[in-house]
Amino acid sequence: MKNHILRALLIFFLALPSTNLLAQTTAASPPPFAAETDAARAARMKWWTEARFGMFIHWDMSSIAGTEISWSRQSARPLDVDKSPAGYVEDPVYDHLYERFNPTHFNAKEWVRLAQAAGMKYIVFTAKHHGGFCMWDTKLTDYSIMHTPFKRDVVKELAEACHQAGMRFGLYYSPRDWHQPDYGVGDNAKYTAYMKGQLTELLTQYGKIDCLWFDGFGAGDSIPFWHADEMLALIQKLQPQVIINNRLANIWFPGNTNTTISAYSSLGDHDTPEGTVGSFQNNRPWETCHMIIHTPGGYAWSYRSDQNFIRPLDECIQMLASCATGDGNLLLDVGPNALGEIPADQAGRLREMGEWMRKHGESICGTRGGPFHNGAWGGSTYKDNLVYLHVFQWGGDRLVLPPLKAKIVKCSIAFKQTADGITLTLPVSQQDKSGTVIELTLSGSAADEMRRGQPLKGPAPKTL
Ligand code: GLC
Repeated sequence: MKNHILRALLIFFLALPSTNLLAQTTAASPPPFAAETDAARAARMKWWTEARFGMFIHWDMSSIAGTEISWSRQSARPLDVDKSPAGYVEDPVYDHLYERFNPTHFNAKEWVRLAQAAGMKYIVFTAKHHGGFCMWDTKLTDYSIMHTPFKRDVVKELAEACHQAGMRFGLYYSPRDWHQPDYGVGDNAKYTAYMKGQLTELLTQYGKIDCLWFDGFGAGDSIPFWHADEMLALIQKLQPQVIINNRLANIWFPGNTNTTISAYSSLGDHDTPEGTVGSFQNNRPWETCHMIIHTPGGYAWSYRSDQNFIRPLDECIQMLASCATGDGNLLLDVGPNALGEIPADQAGRLREMGEWMRKHGESICGTRGGPFHNGAWGGSTYKDNLVYLHVFQWGGDRLVLPPLKAKIVKCSIAFKQTADGITLTLPVSQQDKSGTVIELTLSGSAADEMRRGQPLKGPAPKTL
């Protein structure tokens, strides 16, 4: 009882500054972040757009069951679509898993070293997933890592390890919460006060937070339901440099016609295509999140002990190259086990990606997608007067690309350039099945090759 009163008071006080801010922001001032100029936003996001490759980590006590994080709890997902047939851990079992969570092999520095070895430039960690379990020392609920036998603040250790190593650090936080009793009750104000209290903890106790990765709101929930502008005002006040994805409030659901609330609330700084690669978009930043583990017919964001397999190296590299050539980032997900280890097959694959990144990283990091449009054949990135081709499919020993205005002054393989196009030749035996990286040096800027900012489409890159 005493605890409850204390907690209610804490939530109340933590919520105060943001409530006042709401009063200010709803009056006349433009919504936070949305008031930023395009140039200021681009400057805030510079490190992120240059990074191209990050590590997503989904981890909590669900790793004991070896089933999907949150979704595998059998029932009671308030306000939510019962969208997956994942209910395979009975609630009473799932709800007590944390009492056994003791990941004694967890070593934040090792995870960060692994991300660095893979060539990744940032880490996004699940502070709280949909199930509501908190991986930091929150004062607002007992459903946290501090109430496990482990009793160590994982967010703190990871934040410190990242800061020490110069690794950018971001937090995944699920607005949806299937454990908190206030979630979705009435106008959701009590729950959003809890959420603001938690965000205040996360944004004040762990130094610089580089990204906030929101995820998931019940179907039909609206931006006001999430008090999204208030939330953004609070975030902006606490960590104005943070990069925010587009899942704080409802944009995914059709029928979201509430245009009176800041569009920024639903757009955030970047799009988050999930589990797909291969598109091109250079007028708005985006990041594909994808899993290194594949489980037939389902998610494998977190550690899975059932029929899963690690994606082949070629596929992982092509995913990364597809994102970079499409002008986006890849946030590649790993699922540590109940001991706190990133399983050997996942870690091994990441190190292999790192070997590739050491050879070809300059064709990924700090580049933009283009000037050729990506497709099944592969794609290209560019930086100044350099163009990097990532070729996945050849026609025998050749690849034909659309013409360029500039002259190719240097190329790492044989080529012929005419007014009609460019023909590149490479013996099949020298083609790399992960994608052959070819460097072209142009006589002028590669960005100038884009037509009105769009990559060259025709004649479509084709194989012979
Ligand atoms: C989905 C899932 C969630 C996962 C997320 C990552 O929204 O619900 O479990 O964390 O994708 O993008």
